[in-house]
Amino acid sequence: MILLICGVIQVTDFNSENQFFQSIYDDDSIVWMGQNTNHFPTPAAIKRAMVDSIDKEEYHKYPPPYGLEELRALILEDLSLSSDHGVHVTEGGTESLYQVTRSLLHPGDVMISTDPGYYVIHRFAELCGAKVLDLPIYSADNAYKLTPDMVNEVTDERTKLLALVDPLNPLGITYTAKEVKAFCEIAQDAGIYVLNDVTYRDVATLHTLAAGFYPEGTVTIYSFSKNCGFAGLRLGAHIATNELIQQIAHYKINDLGTSVVSQVAGIAALKTKLDWLPKVVESIKANQVIIRDAVAKIEGAYLPVYPSQGSMFVIDISGTGKTSESVAGEMLKRGFFIREAEYTTRRYADRYVRASFAIPKQQVERFAIELTNVFQS
Ligand SMILES: Cc1ncc(COP(=O)(O)O)c(C=O)c1O
Repeated sequence: MILLICGVIQVTDFNSENQFFQSIYDDDSIVWMGQNTNHFPTPAAIKRAMVDSIDKEEYHKYPPPYGLEELRALILEDLSLSSDHGVHVTEGGTESLYQVTRSLLHPGDVMISTDPGYYVIHRFAELCGAKVLDLPIYSADNAYKLTPDMVNEVTDERTKLLALVDPLNPLGITYTAKEVKAFCEIAQDAGIYVLNDVTYRDVATLHTLAAGFYPEGTVTIYSFSKNCGFAGLRLGAHIATNELIQQIAHYKINDLGTSVVSQVAGIAALKTKLDWLPKVVESIKANQVIIRDAVAKIEGAYLPVYPSQGSMFVIDISGTGKTSESVAGEMLKRGFFIREAEYTTRRYADRYVRASFAIPKQQVERFAIELTNVFQS
């Protein structure tokens, strides 16, 4: 296998893939716009909570297997879900996605998802022996969204799971309450589960949980990486009714719980959320305007979805004569890590690059200049 990451590094195997990520991780001058992560400064109260936990050496004990009780309660409260629901804290939405697909999908089953989409989920589904229907949504005709009609058309007795990533990585669309309700009604009628990945929920101006319409069949995937800026702490959760969460728990990966320091940070973050989240969201929204104005200056480039309800844009470059890999590669040489399309699409790899913007304004301003320079070179 030879893969080009950002068109500059040849990844031939396990080791070279890791070495690529180590090299950008080590380089503090690189502006991190490739993984939708949040790089705004962490509030002092959250850092204090972690330091206190380390000072008290709380990490000698294994934490409870499904999470600290206080954190589990705060997550439910954050989602405004009732105590009919259970929370399973994990080392990130990724662990939850693996466990949930592993528990709900079996060989011969079908999962419905989208292209573009978050292909990590597709890979996990395929590891279960399931087939993935990645329905093409990259079109203005359907506002770059999955529609209830598309789902209806392909649902049959083999369908077991609808992956509803909302807001969607990479496009940044979100679904209205009416759309979420319609997806839930289809799922309920057909007896299929909904995997509602709400990793970017806090960025959306308006967001509706599928669990509100279809509690008994929805598993909500929750992450602390993008809203709280905890990507490196590895903290997330999945939430479902007590009956369903129990069933999924049979497939748990981390029998001995999730990092206590990360969980303590999660508790502090959720307790202080109203103090810091509005500022984070405001910065994310303001950064979008800077990038929009830069893209408008590039002949042949455009933003299919604006504004984004996530912390990332798809920038369509198909009319510029440049490839996704070459743009990502040229931006990396200029110190900006963005992502080529291939990571989030099967059909549209020649169409776009993905850039995220939960980063300080000055970095976005530099990005805007360099992006336009790349298309002039
Ligand atoms: C839709 C979606 N789900 C889950 C994740 C991973 O979340 P975590 O860092 O909590 O594992 C990502 C990361 O990019 C994502 O885009």
